[in-house]
Parts: sequence; C-alpha cells; structure tokens
Amino acid sequence: MRIDIISVVPELMRSPFEASIMKRSIEKGLVEVHFHNLRDYVTDNYRQIDDYQFGGGAGMVMMIEPIDKCISELKAARSYDEIIYMTPDGETLNQGMANSISLLKNIIILCGHYKGVDQRVRDQFITKEISIGDYVLSGGELGGIILCDSIIRLIPGVLGNETSALTDSFQDNLLAPPIYTRPADYKGWKVPEVLTSGNFPKIEAWREEQAYQHTKKRRPDLLDE
Ligand code: ADE
Repeated sequence: MRIDIISVVPELMRSPFEASIMKRSIEKGLVEVHFHNLRDYVTDNYRQIDDYQFGGGAGMVMMIEPIDKCISELKAARSYDEIIYMTPDGETLNQGMANSISLLKNIIILCGHYKGVDQRVRDQFITKEISIGDYVLSGGELGGIILCDSIIRLIPGVLGNETSALTDSFQDNLLAPPIYTRPADYKGWKVPEVLTSGNFPKIEAWREEQAYQHTKKRRPDLLDE
C-alpha cells in the first residue's frame, strides 16, 4: 500500500513511522509512506497557505491552490483509491472502515489545519472524510497517524502472527477478553484456572463469554449493531 500524506506540519507525523509495527511494515516493503509539505506547493513569496474567511469569522482557512497543485501532481503519477480528508465533521473511524481501507492500494490523506480547508477542496478532490472522534484537535495530523496505524496493522504480513489482528477488539463487534501471561500466581493474584487447563475448547468458550460480558458492561451499543 502507498500512503501519501499532505500536511503543513509533516514533522508532527514522522516519528510514529520510525518505530515498532509501522516502521517494520515499511522495512518489509509492505507500506510506502510519502510526506508532502503544502508549503512546497506555494508560489507567492510569503509561502502563504491560509487566508481569512470570506464573510468574516474567526480562524484561517487553508487555500485551495497549494492543495490542488499537490493532489494534481500525485494524481498525474498514479491513480488513487481514496483521497481522505481528516476532519472532526467526517464519518467516525471504526474497525470496519479500517478493514476496508487496508485493502486499498494507493491513498492520499489530507490533514487539515487552522479552521480547515476551503470547501471547494472537499467538493472537488476528497472522496472520504474521516473523524477520529467527537473532539477537536489542532489539526488532522494526529488523526492521520491514528488512521494509518489502524490500517497498516491489518495489511497481511505486517503483524508477525497473521491471526492476531483478527482477535482484536471490535473485529466481531465485541471487545477483547482479558489476557494474562506468566507468572500464573503473582502475590496470590491468580490467573483464571481455565487458561492453564490445556482444554482449548473450554478456553475458547471462556474467552467468548468474557468478551460478551465485557462488551455488555462497557459498550452495550456494540451488541445492538
Ligand atoms: N482534525 C481536528 N479534529 C479532528 C478529529 N476529531 N478527527 C480528525 N481530524 C481532526
């Protein structure tokens, strides 16, 4: 998968790709991430990428021209499956969306900053608008990172154990059951006996029941879906 990220502050976004699973996905050649600084697409001397709102109002708006130049250059080089805009009024990211985006070949992620982008950018270029939750961040960059992490870990070969993403919370609309590792007894705090029984059908049934109870308690809305 190739991910092109457009931002005015790409330096905010680099380090998550330089560690752990996202770094390994790039090293294995499964993912390519390219950053594009919008300031490189500005023609005037002030390197201005934002301006006041027509009609008045607080907050600067990202101008269409640098974004058009950047997206058009990328689209001239290859075709894109989705051009995503990170914005608090987008569709809320969930596991189902991450699953389907992880199957795509080329995507662009445009990160808004300031008040957001000129509406014509959204009308003309954007194919999908994503929010990471009902709160407002200073820009779309951190949301873009979260989106990347949620999709990259689903790409076959990225996680060592192919099954481990399939047993994540939300994959079947259930939260994950509790997990334990050694020692089986720490200061008298014991691991549930069933997990050390070696009886795998029983372990599976216990996990399913725990996942169901955990979901019922914390996120009953998931059970309605
Ligand atoms: N930009 C600002 N807030 C955001 C949010 N909640 N999700 C995605 N992008 C954003």
